[in-house]
Amino acid sequence: MSKRSYYITTPIYYPSDNLHIGHAYTTVAADCIARFKRMQGFDVFYLTGTDEHGQKIEKVALEKEMSPQAYVDGIVVGIKALWEALLISNNDFIRTTESRHEEVVKNLFQKVYEQGDIYISEYEGWYCTPCETFFTERQLDEGKCPDCGRSVEKLKEESYFFNMAKYAPRLLEHIDQHPDFIQPESRRNEVINFVKSGLDDLCVSRTTFNWGVGVPFNDKHVVYVWFDALINYLSAIGYLDDKEKFNQYWPANVHLMAKDILRFHAIIWPIMLMAIDLPLPEKVFAHGWIMLEGGKMSKSKGNVIDPMVLVNKYGVDAVRYYLVKELSFGQDGMYSEEMLINRINSDLANDLGNLISRTVAMISRYFDSRIPEPGKEDNADQELRTTALRAYEEATEKLEKLDFASYIQSVLRLISRANKYIDETQPWLLAKDESKQERLGTVLYNLLESIRIALIILSPAMPALALRANQQLNIFADPDSLKWEEARAWGLTQAGKLVSRGPALFPRIDLKVLDEETPEAQETVEGHREEESNLIDIEDFAKVDLRVATVIACEKMKKADKLLILTLQVGEEQRTVVSGIAKAYEPEQLVGKRVVLVANLKPVKLRGVLSQGMILAASDPQDNDIEVLTLDRIESGHRVK
Ligand code: ME8
Repeated sequence: MSKRSYYITTPIYYPSDNLHIGHAYTTVAADCIARFKRMQGFDVFYLTGTDEHGQKIEKVALEKEMSPQAYVDGIVVGIKALWEALLISNNDFIRTTESRHEEVVKNLFQKVYEQGDIYISEYEGWYCTPCETFFTERQLDEGKCPDCGRSVEKLKEESYFFNMAKYAPRLLEHIDQHPDFIQPESRRNEVINFVKSGLDDLCVSRTTFNWGVGVPFNDKHVVYVWFDALINYLSAIGYLDDKEKFNQYWPANVHLMAKDILRFHAIIWPIMLMAIDLPLPEKVFAHGWIMLEGGKMSKSKGNVIDPMVLVNKYGVDAVRYYLVKELSFGQDGMYSEEMLINRINSDLANDLGNLISRTVAMISRYFDSRIPEPGKEDNADQELRTTALRAYEEATEKLEKLDFASYIQSVLRLISRANKYIDETQPWLLAKDESKQERLGTVLYNLLESIRIALIILSPAMPALALRANQQLNIFADPDSLKWEEARAWGLTQAGKLVSRGPALFPRIDLKVLDEETPEAQETVEGHREEESNLIDIEDFAKVDLRVATVIACEKMKKADKLLILTLQVGEEQRTVVSGIAKAYEPEQLVGKRVVLVANLKPVKLRGVLSQGMILAASDPQDNDIEVLTLDRIESGHRVK
């Protein structure tokens, strides 16, 4: 019997320009699902590609004085290289200029025409070329495109029309009977309302330019680019020439996209499929936009983010991790390089990286690098094991729902529980007592098991991670073919194998890379925990001279919106300290407060002011919320230890 199949698609992107982080967002998300399903044993077909016809592409190519084909050929090379760099595991890459696709478009246009659902008439209305979308006068938003806000052009031409209204009742019935067909729920309701408000027949051909698939029975016309593009989902799996493959994968399990093109996939596409008598896809899922701090990404704002640059700078796993974690179910996500660095430092370097390096270091030190046998289990062990099982179950459920952010949360909880388990079991104390040797072995074994499970669960999002980690951990026989089910079982790690210490999997990134000169960046980095690949002794801690200090004056640093200059009374002495807390405090709020000063920090000059120490503050991972540590009773100058 053939394996259960799973067919997932991304939109086919316009190669009018190089792709940006928004396109990477969808493609990484779909890849995460494709990998998850393969790990579960499905026969997955993951399709992406390019939408190469249409007026927009023709116009761009003309501007560059190139033929449209030569122009898109160049862009497609870059797109394929980008997907390779992002470890996208697509099974095919369809280009709408390929004959295998064009043949199907012609065939289906003819079929729908012959059955009377396409008829010729005259189109009079408006067209948005960047969106390749027709609008009626009434749909315009103050004369502009209601989707992108750009200018539209008036069209009056002979066109073929597709009778959409005829299928509207059937579509509504299908949506009603298949609650999961359009996800998330809020988008589903939007689509229902749109269809109920009445569907106009769709103009499906153009005569004023040539760059498209010719209408088979009228050479003055080319097929409308959306009618052409949507058919890629059929042509790529052999609609005309490979019936067996087609039947294996159709209907698709998921068409993934952002909300901008949901209407095409949830209304026009299903109606086209009804007209050609094919079953509808199981699910059409619209995720949110990835936004920049200054709003949407756009060429005109000059703020388009190139994912290739990020991969080269931070590594593929870190970039993918960030994108997947930012994909809250159906909601918009945010991108900033600072947030990316903070995620790498907190989740990957501090939490996951440290868990792995501490565990390997302890097995090296206490067991001569040999993975110990586990002994008897106690309550803490059972709790860790239950957390691991819960992480597996939750991750499975969330991935099935395409709830990416919650999927990542489920594994972060396991990692954090394992770090806490180290603090609770205190292996370094067990190591001092000969009679606790078996207990020590059990603790370290359990840590490896938690890591093994976390790595399996993370691997759809971070496909290079298991292989890299395994060079130190030696827990996977074949890290490239992990099975999802192996994250459910406890105890698969083989005792007796040798671990080996290696470089940090995720070295901490100094925020200064964003701006070498910004002292704010330095302050923020100092505020974070350092990597704990080695535990420190109490003597090490005692080297830090922490003192109670009273703020006697405070002012804003000119031209630096994050910095305050504090004058501190520390016993008999006065100090000046520059601190990156201006976003959270007005200067006057701090005067009179008793704070904690790191008194023996080497002085540094920040924006021309000599800062003699640092005050302690806690912050959330993005440094959006900062709270300075304060005391009430103990006098200024006294030690904090
Ligand atoms: O619409 N945030 O192609 P396109 C999230 N060719 N996703 C984003 C994004 C952002 N800021 N920017 C782009 C087309 N995307 C048609 C599709 S399919 C038969 C034809 C992603 O190049 C997202 O998936 O404009 C969005 O739906 C898609 O790119 C639009 O890509």
